[in-house]
Amino acid sequence: MAETMAPAKAAHGAEGSGETRRDFLMLTTGAFAAVGVGVVVWPFIHSMNPARDVLALSSTEVDLAPIAAGQAVTVMWRGKPVFVRNRTAEEVQAARATPLSELKDPAPDQGRVQRDQWLVVVGVCTHLGCVPLGQKSSDPRGDYNGWFCPCHGSHYDTSGRIRKGPAPTNLAVPEYSFTSPTQIRIG
Ligand code: FES
Repeated sequence: MAETMAPAKAAHGAEGSGETRRDFLMLTTGAFAAVGVGVVVWPFIHSMNPARDVLALSSTEVDLAPIAAGQAVTVMWRGKPVFVRNRTAEEVQAARATPLSELKDPAPDQGRVQRDQWLVVVGVCTHLGCVPLGQKSSDPRGDYNGWFCPCHGSHYDTSGRIRKGPAPTNLAVPEYSFTSPTQIRIG
């Protein structure tokens, strides 16, 4: 810009100061524009960082003490429902008595739990993603006393394994650990 404006100042004398002022105004406007872009861009970049509350949701603590035998609770973890069921001795026995040869997605119950009575599974049907019924005592639990997905009729057993219907695989077991005898952390 300096090269193109210099001859104009020499030719027009007094107008030179006007040009200079315009230069100054243009430069000032440019500087404001640059600052404006910076202000707009920063929140955009900032919004791409995970918020603190989102990070906190990457793990979920569950107090097991209030869950009686035979009951279940649903907690949200990373936007998905997770079923935590306190299984009765009969439910554990039913899961363990099932021959693997009868399973569509063979997996021993012992490999799906850390403590016999506590089953922790992601509550999303592996067919097309509905949330199966069976968490409330009044819900239908399907032919195998686990969960029933009414969307297309998938039945899961007391280990969350698919036993009947179109779902191809068992309910997923999320990563979790016991932080005390009555507390787990999912994630
Ligand atoms: S989504 Fe569960 S059976 Fe289709």
